[in-house]
Amino acid sequence: MPHAVIKTRTPIIALDNKNVFFSKRFQLFIAPISVKCEDFVVRVYQKRSKIVVKLDKTTYPFITDDVKSAILGFAEYLANKLNGGIVSHNLNRTYKDCVFVGNYLLDVRSINEMGVNNLLKSNRVRLEVGMGRGEFLLETAKSNPEVEFIGVEIANEPLLKAAFRFAKEGLSNVKVIKHDARYIFDLFDANSVECVYVNFPEPWFKFKKIKHTLLNMDTLKKIERVLKKGGNIELLTDNLAYAVSVVTALETHTTLKNAQNRCIDIFKGSVDTYFERRWKRRERTIYRVIYEKTVESEAGEIDKMAFPLKVKQNYVLKNGLIFKILDVFENSSDQRIVEVTFGRSINPQHSYFGLTNTDELFLIPQSIFIADEDALKSLELATI
Ligand SMILES: C[S@@+](CC[C@H](N)C(=O)[O-])C[C@H]1O[C@@H](n2cnc3c(N)ncnc32)[C@H](O)[C@@H]1O
Repeated sequence: MPHAVIKTRTPIIALDNKNVFFSKRFQLFIAPISVKCEDFVVRVYQKRSKIVVKLDKTTYPFITDDVKSAILGFAEYLANKLNGGIVSHNLNRTYKDCVFVGNYLLDVRSINEMGVNNLLKSNRVRLEVGMGRGEFLLETAKSNPEVEFIGVEIANEPLLKAAFRFAKEGLSNVKVIKHDARYIFDLFDANSVECVYVNFPEPWFKFKKIKHTLLNMDTLKKIERVLKKGGNIELLTDNLAYAVSVVTALETHTTLKNAQNRCIDIFKGSVDTYFERRWKRRERTIYRVIYEKTVESEAGEIDKMAFPLKVKQNYVLKNGLIFKILDVFENSSDQRIVEVTFGRSINPQHSYFGLTNTDELFLIPQSIFIADEDALKSLELATI
């Protein structure tokens, strides 16, 4: 994680700057930062004579040179103000600019406002979730120029590699979403996606991590809704237990129908991705699951948010939904930012919002989350 360490004897509490927001609960402050393509938060805390300035995981921007130099610039400012000096950092330039990424990125804030389909040019759409370094998407998009492809990926590094690949080939029918794919399906129109590809979703499959599983019962039902009639979900995995769990969920919780001879087939072809090459080198068997949508879903409007929202409760846990204000941060002008966890309690989202002095929650550039059904319902529970 990008960070810088400052050595100083001055306590951070001595700092007076409108851009820093002190926590009411902990010895730390946050600073919202905006650079060319990204809005993010840095967290700053003091451990004896050391101050650590660290990129906050929640807003997780692309770690480009702009982001690194903004964090370093902020650390230099702090060191200067607190009569200290930077003693270490990992913010050296990597010559990765954010401009080319911006050409491919679908911003989650625009998605919340417009829905994904309204941001696309075509009504022929296919989606890959957990796209990794984008090899599969690149080849598939090149051979289907009439289709618009969307890759969803949560991890920064592979996504940057993918965006570089697309830029090098000059691809114009690909977009990427940098977020947890489990929240994204509600932001697509019903019956709008030709195919959802999932290639080697997780390298792990452990009981205690089941709640983090990408293809669980909830996401499979959501995928069913967004698929067009005749559209498919296609899964490749080296993990038979995973394939079995997906087929079981598809059979019991959706109306999708198996589209191969067997529910789980042995895949002899190639998608030539990093993980396929890796499992083939280890001589692992690769399994394929393809299920087709045969019944059209009921179309409905995507729900929208109407900020500002007046907070009536700091903490609500009801019907499997959670809303909890984790921390309140305040600057020297009495402006407030709150850190909130909200959505489905088993799989909540986490974001920052502004809070007025009459307790109205409002969006700030660093409010990076997906307004899926669970997020909206949990916000509704806690607000008037
Ligand atoms: C095993 S890798 C496979 C990558 C690529 N499909 C391939 O075949 O090389 C799994 C990928 O899924 C991504 N991933 C896992 N869970 C995700 C989630 N909930 N949302 C978006 N991406 C996710 C991981 O970051 C990782 O890049």
